[in-house]
Amino acid sequence: MISVAIDGPSGAGKSSMAKRLAAELGYTYVDTGAMYRAIGLYALRHGADPHDEAAVAALLPAIRLDITVQDGAQHIFLNGEDVSAAIRTEEAGMAASAVGTLGPVRAFLLETQRALARSRDVLMDGRDIGTVVLPGATVKIYLTASAAARALRRCRELREKGQPADYATVLRDIEARDWQDSHRAIAPLRQAEDAVLVDTSDLDIDESFAALKKIIAERTARPA
Ligand code: DC
Repeated sequence: MISVAIDGPSGAGKSSMAKRLAAELGYTYVDTGAMYRAIGLYALRHGADPHDEAAVAALLPAIRLDITVQDGAQHIFLNGEDVSAAIRTEEAGMAASAVGTLGPVRAFLLETQRALARSRDVLMDGRDIGTVVLPGATVKIYLTASAAARALRRCRELREKGQPADYATVLRDIEARDWQDSHRAIAPLRQAEDAVLVDTSDLDIDESFAALKKIIAERTARPA
């Protein structure tokens, strides 16, 4: 089985790149952030503080996550409800980052993520895929961009959707999430020693895609 691990901070373009690469290569795309978001959403809906380990751990036995792929897009079901759209808010992202600091939540998701990679070729994105989830991944990429470049892109995306976007607020949220994701005690965001670093601060979407495709092709080429 081939596994491609793509890690990096929020807003670096991991999911849009991973989706496109998976479609082109015929691999299954696994968005691990969606799993943390679904747990964050569940905590918010149940009035639990997403930073409170005991409160969130007590909710886990009642959570069932199912992941399906429909028309090439991953759908995530939380106890039977398709929450793929509901998890895409800034609030759910911050809650995901908070529950992601908790050991019981990481342990709860680890086996699900590993099992997905055992039975098929996957392209998995997240924060700890190359370091913890799939340390033996065939290809590891650390995709990043400066906080300023990521904030600009996020503002553009929000405006395209007709939503208000204040650059200073977006930048502050990105920096807060970077800090929380990279300073937690368990499985913090960091580049694996054997991961290839790709900084897209000065690359457009097509250039970023081409760079990643080349790295994957070089490392998955079968000897003739
Ligand atoms: O990639 P994303 O923005 O959807 O992820 C949301 C949050 O989930 C992220 O800020 C930290 C957490 N997360 C994590 O801790 N480990 C992962 N493998 C993926 C996401």
